[in-house]
Amino acid sequence: MEIAVKSGSPEKQRTACLVLAVFQNRKLSEHAEIVDQVSDGYLSSIIRRGDIEGHAGDTLLLHHVPNIVADRVLLVGVGKERDLNDQQYQRIIYASAKLLNTTGANEAVSYLSELPVKGRNSLWKVKQAAIHIANQSYQFELLKSKKNEHSKKLKKIVFTIPTRKKLVDAEQALREAQAINSGMLLTKNLANMPANICNPEYLAQEALIMSKQFPNIDVDILNKKDLEALKMGAFLSVAKGATSEPKLIVFNYCGGEKDQQPIVLVGKGVTFDSGGISIKPSAAMDEMKYDMCGAASVFGVIRACAELQLEMNIVGIIPATENMPSGDATRPGDIVTSMSGKTIEILNTDAEGRLILCDALSYADRFNPHSVIDIATLTGACIIALGHHTSAVMGNHNPLINELKNAGKTSGDQCWELPLGEEYQKQLDSNFADIANIGGRPAGSITAACFLSRFTKKYHWAHLDIAGTAWKSGKEKGATGRPVPLLMEYIIQQSKSEK
Ligand code: BES
Ligand code: MN
Ligand code: ZN
Repeated sequence: MEIAVKSGSPEKQRTACLVLAVFQNRKLSEHAEIVDQVSDGYLSSIIRRGDIEGHAGDTLLLHHVPNIVADRVLLVGVGKERDLNDQQYQRIIYASAKLLNTTGANEAVSYLSELPVKGRNSLWKVKQAAIHIANQSYQFELLKSKKNEHSKKLKKIVFTIPTRKKLVDAEQALREAQAINSGMLLTKNLANMPANICNPEYLAQEALIMSKQFPNIDVDILNKKDLEALKMGAFLSVAKGATSEPKLIVFNYCGGEKDQQPIVLVGKGVTFDSGGISIKPSAAMDEMKYDMCGAASVFGVIRACAELQLEMNIVGIIPATENMPSGDATRPGDIVTSMSGKTIEILNTDAEGRLILCDALSYADRFNPHSVIDIATLTGACIIALGHHTSAVMGNHNPLINELKNAGKTSGDQCWELPLGEEYQKQLDSNFADIANIGGRPAGSITAACFLSRFTKKYHWAHLDIAGTAWKSGKEKGATGRPVPLLMEYIIQQSKSEK
């Protein structure tokens, strides 16, 4: 979808659809008021009949509004002005997008970006609107033989800002949004792709395609032999039961000075998690194709950075494998040696994410990182703790954790810190090896992070557990593209403080 920004008065917009807000109790917004006056009270006369109350998400489509040049007017209820926070704003943009996609209009000018959202300026509003509208219109249709043409009518949307003075800044905010959108699109498409197609080899090929598209992206693909040479025994133990070969995909985006330390992103890339010998129950097991959402978010972020030509150095590391049962698969009780030299007793083969991540995290050290952030659909316990709205964040460096929390708030892609206390570490004690790969039922997300923390002592590190936020189940089953917005907000903030 094409997205643009401009300023100007509503009655003069030559567009297929003008989008205007109505507050609760049938109160017209500033721009709806202008159109009402120009049209000799047409809007207020309609509203008086009670067709739209103004609750957040209400919509009413009008034709033939007198004395204006737009073909249609879409009124969108936005609730009470004092309730207009970030979430409410998102809901309103979603509602408008949903309705616009059902009208005959293929283009629109929306004044919703000028709504008074508490504590937010017009740049934020334009950027968020541009991200939300693209998000609402997404469908995964790559594998449908007939595309659903009806549901994607809207080809172009223009959001407005109050004055021309901010136009240059707003256009920059929009460029950021568009880069984030194309990153999220890639993340969602990779994540939704089923595991019989999206295997480690497929991800590697996708990475190579990206490196050909963008001159600033270099890609290294490490094969099983390379992983053996690196002594990545933990990673390899997960791949043992699979017929597809494991890959370590390494992105190098160089937009910054040569000596600028990179931000390293490590994404869990389990293209299908059956649990291995500790096999999972079959209910909803299809959703374990999403166990590579961390990896998919690294793809999305690298792509977004390259599109924006951000002056940053970003390394992306993706350990990619399937976790499958077979005669060759790792057994519960097996002991393996990780790249770091630490031995691990694998008590449950379904706790595989930490096994592939620990070797990737050891590998991260060679890039002399500014910070390392791993992103993983790591624990079911995270869903129990935080549900589907908030990712978990833990780490060994408070400033980094705080920057991620703030990036989460600004982008609406929020995360919440869980306490990564020393006292949890002993749940990982093993009688036979240096460390066990599970820590029992209590605090499962924390003990998983404890496990990773043993391998991240040399640098500033944070861990994002996205088990509850990376995809939706049920009728709306599909990848969300999270946490690309959070990570991009963090990286853009970092790029601004570099200058
Ligand atoms: N990929 C799963 C975590 C997961 C499960 C994410 C369901 C989203 C939805 C991970 O590999 C896993 O299986 N974790 C186990 C760990 C346990 C064996 C200690 C879990 O959470 O049950
Ligand atoms: Mn698992
Ligand atoms: Zn997993």
